[in-house]
Amino acid sequence: MFAQISELREKFREKLAGAKSAADVENLRVTFLGKSGSVTGLLKNMGGLSPEDKKTVGQAVNDLKNKVGEELARKLQEFQELELKRELESLPVFDVAAPKDLQRGSYHPITLVQRQCETVFRSMGFTVEDYSEIVTDYECFESLNIPKFHPARDMQDTYYLDNGQLLKTQTSAAQNAIYRKYRDRLLKDGTPIKAIFPGRCFRNESTDACHENTFFQMEGVMVDKNISISNLIFFMKTMLSEVFQRDIKVRLRPGFFPFVEPGFELDINCLICGGAGCPSCKHSGWLELCPCGMIHPNVLREGGIDPEEYTGFAFGLGLTRLAMMKYGVKDIRDLNGGLLQNLDQFTDDRL
Ligand code: DAH
Repeated sequence: MFAQISELREKFREKLAGAKSAADVENLRVTFLGKSGSVTGLLKNMGGLSPEDKKTVGQAVNDLKNKVGEELARKLQEFQELELKRELESLPVFDVAAPKDLQRGSYHPITLVQRQCETVFRSMGFTVEDYSEIVTDYECFESLNIPKFHPARDMQDTYYLDNGQLLKTQTSAAQNAIYRKYRDRLLKDGTPIKAIFPGRCFRNESTDACHENTFFQMEGVMVDKNISISNLIFFMKTMLSEVFQRDIKVRLRPGFFPFVEPGFELDINCLICGGAGCPSCKHSGWLELCPCGMIHPNVLREGGIDPEEYTGFAFGLGLTRLAMMKYGVKDIRDLNGGLLQNLDQFTDDRL
């Protein structure tokens, strides 16, 4: 029987070498290992052997069976890889996800106004800071003079993580970290803290033409000796006239924010309706663009700065609103809608 086994092995090798496709390999599997295949036949023919011979022959037939199985699998894989390669090579080269009439990309309107603001503030000596979107309750509220259960929190419900962190509701959440980052320079060398920090904010908000659950702000702070409201007004006016490249009608009115005292609402005349009233400005003719104020002593103290010695101003510019005003976008939801024909019309600066 050993002769039969080695004859079969030879035969199998020859046939396998001649296989031209995965289908040929499958046929060989049936021929050799199938129910009535030749290797299986050998096993069936062992009935007349002595128990000792049965053991050795059985071992040899099993070895053959395993070898045949392994070689068939290897060959099959070779063919499958080859077929896949052939198929891939035959495909036309194109990106199935690319939109029809693909154009070069463009900057988002919010990115455009953000960059303009950054340029203006950089030229006035401000640093541009980055900050995370997930913050702690301390960063977003406590360090800003908004203790737990303060009613000001009602206006800023947001999305909470299981670990108690939250998606920041305001870029003010970075204030404490910025004070701590630059405090030593201020105290030792007298270098004023001048920083802006743009970022994405989130609130649990019902959406309409002027409210979104995701929006962009740009916070700015300046801390030094003898900073007053006139410094604040100067920087706000300079920034707006640079960004809009024309004189904008603004009004300053008192506003309450726990982290500033006094606090203001800086409104601009709605540029969409010219002040007549429209859904974009809640029919008031004015748009709250940049709440601001003098940094509250508690907030400075929490950042490690002595409020008896230093004062400062802070503002929270609504970048999303600014983009709407600058580009005449009537509905805030269009900015997050992702429709390229809406978003790509404001820049000549293609990517
Ligand atoms: N963080 C405030 C908000 O989102 C806006 C704000 C108000 C920021 C006054 C400031 C400020 O820096 O001084 O409602």
